[in-house]
Amino acid sequence: MHPDETANINGEISPISDARIPVHDHGFLYGDGVYETIRTYDKRPFCLGEHLGRLERSAAAIRLRLKWEPPRIAAEIGRTLEAARRASGDTAAAPGAEYAIRVMATRGEGALGYDPDLCPEPSLMILVTRLNAMSRQHREEGIHAVIATVRRNPIEALDPRVKSLNLLNNILASHVAKDAGAHEAILFNTAGYLAEGTLTNVFFVKDARVMTPSLDCGILSGITRDIVLQILGSEGRPSVEGRFTREQLLAADEVFLTSTTREVFPVALLDGRPVGLGARGPVTEELQRLFGRRVKEIMAG
Ligand code: PDD
Repeated sequence: MHPDETANINGEISPISDARIPVHDHGFLYGDGVYETIRTYDKRPFCLGEHLGRLERSAAAIRLRLKWEPPRIAAEIGRTLEAARRASGDTAAAPGAEYAIRVMATRGEGALGYDPDLCPEPSLMILVTRLNAMSRQHREEGIHAVIATVRRNPIEALDPRVKSLNLLNNILASHVAKDAGAHEAILFNTAGYLAEGTLTNVFFVKDARVMTPSLDCGILSGITRDIVLQILGSEGRPSVEGRFTREQLLAADEVFLTSTTREVFPVALLDGRPVGLGARGPVTEELQRLFGRRVKEIMAG
């Protein structure tokens, strides 16, 4: 663990190694909570407003009152980042280092039981850790993904749009990837349509058209996904949000994945078979370049 990795538990800042939560927190006991993973560029949070908006929507969907309003959460994130920067000896000690910021909102501490009234006060925790950036090799040459045997939680059971602390569905799928020696597992929904990765949104390219599952397939409304769709729109490139089958995915010319921490990256091997030519395709490469440019524009305000 890096010494600058910092926690904020209900406003109390400490090194992560010293941070503790009560064993009766319902986030721990039942996964009763929601979260966001945010990243920094130049040590400043990226798309903070979008992440806090999604946190509010996730909380509302599970009838969870957030401990603080978004402006206070943003201020606490700022304070925690500042403490991490100070602990790292500021930029001189870690010039290239970026942070991942995990914000968790839980039902709070309460006696055993599912009744939300057992928890009078919700909790909010922020963890600032060093960002584990994706290797250049994976970014340029692609990763190996598998199709998970596990299906994505159906919308009617636990809507994947809610970024919930209940991650067992994703974890079970990631076991499939690990068993196959792959980096990511791609899940289909119970109707047999493409959904998303365990930690990523999925896109594929066929005959120069970019395709991605629509939100009604039961996926997280990814912030990186949104930016990629905006870029495609502004470049006048056709893109389709819809329902896609396993056969369509396996016949793709290119497959790429998106997430906050990993941005845009190619899948070179899918279920052990090369995607297209088995290397990063031209559309993925172009979108990586355009995404980098868009990040700079957004950070410049
Ligand atoms: N993962 N789908 C799932 C299931 C995710 O957990 C994530 C994010 C995404 C991509 O969303 P975004 O572009 O907003 O990061 C899609 C984050 C990085 C995480 O859980 O740490």
